[in-house]
Amino acid sequence: MPAGWLCTLRAVRILSIESSCDESAAAVLDSDRGLLAHVVFSQIELHRIYGGVVPELASRDHVQRLLPLVRDVLVQAGTDRDGLDGVAYTAGPGLVGALLTGAALARSLAFAWNLPAVGVHHLEGHLLAPLLEPHPPPFPHLALLVSGGHTMLIEVRAIGAYRLLGQTRDDAAGEAFDKTAKLLGLPYPGGPALSRLAAQGREDAFHFPRPMLDRPGLEFSFSGLKTAVLHAVRGRELTDELRADVARGVEAAIVDALCAKALRALEQTGLEILTVSGGVGANRRLREELVRAVSRRGGSVYFPRLEFCTDNAAMIAVAGLARLQAGQHEPLSIRAHARWALDGLPPVAA
Ligand code: KG4
Ligand code: ZN
Repeated sequence: MPAGWLCTLRAVRILSIESSCDESAAAVLDSDRGLLAHVVFSQIELHRIYGGVVPELASRDHVQRLLPLVRDVLVQAGTDRDGLDGVAYTAGPGLVGALLTGAALARSLAFAWNLPAVGVHHLEGHLLAPLLEPHPPPFPHLALLVSGGHTMLIEVRAIGAYRLLGQTRDDAAGEAFDKTAKLLGLPYPGGPALSRLAAQGREDAFHFPRPMLDRPGLEFSFSGLKTAVLHAVRGRELTDELRADVARGVEAAIVDALCAKALRALEQTGLEILTVSGGVGANRRLREELVRAVSRRGGSVYFPRLEFCTDNAAMIAVAGLARLQAGQHEPLSIRAHARWALDGLPPVAA
């Protein structure tokens, strides 16, 4: 990353820590030299047998993993405390116990090293992940943020200037992938597994409802999909062919709804640039459909690379660096927010 979005200011280097859910991660970002290193440990295997994230297990595992990850990332980045200007960490939203492990470690390191600590909003991290790419999106743009916990359309005027245009009324897009995947007997997390299975399914075997599409506005609703899938498979033997056809239908319904509302938001705001981030942003069909639809109307779409769609600390470093450069850091009390409104964040002055 040439870090063109920051490089007019004094060079700053930051260590970042992410622990909001089931990924433990650390990164080092330098405003002049870009991303120096990032490491992620996924707890997926730990939670798989439970079919979802068990918060207490997540917290305990973060406690064990984070410090070695921080050590590794500093070695890989070729830096130590003397090369750092601050420590960023995910302060929320997320699982509060998991957040506290990262917050406590980051604040303790900052205290011991006499550096400022920056609590970062996890969704701001996702929103800014496309800035890690060699060709970052210009501002203003529209962001489609699709993760396991959130489905949002956000007008991004600048770093720190966000306007929520629409979100889901019930399940998030990633949750819809995960829950329907579970109904089909696929392992957790269901999104990638369902997407792989869908590639073998027939296009028109199932047409699941696309709620909210016929209504004005920019809201989503995905909770009906589970029931629709249950009805579709009720009384039938769950053969590999049937599962693949259902998976194809589910993926098409989710992707259609996301594309239609994203296009509507571009139309309503007059914006031409779309960014897509969050775990569901790794979905191949979603990426293809969005590129096709947005370029047809003369706009362009920016994605983070796949490893920066799902949870990682590099994106937390981007947000932390921007806020540190804007002089925003906090006293060393430890805070973590299980819920946190994105549009209440202070602006970052240009
Ligand atoms: O952003 P993320 O890593 O964590 C949250 O902050 O929620 O997103 C995780 C979500 C999960 O629901 C997972 O099933 C979904 O992203 N996901 C996918 C794909 N890869 C991850 N969904 C559909 N297709 C994929 N390829
Ligand atoms: Zn996330």
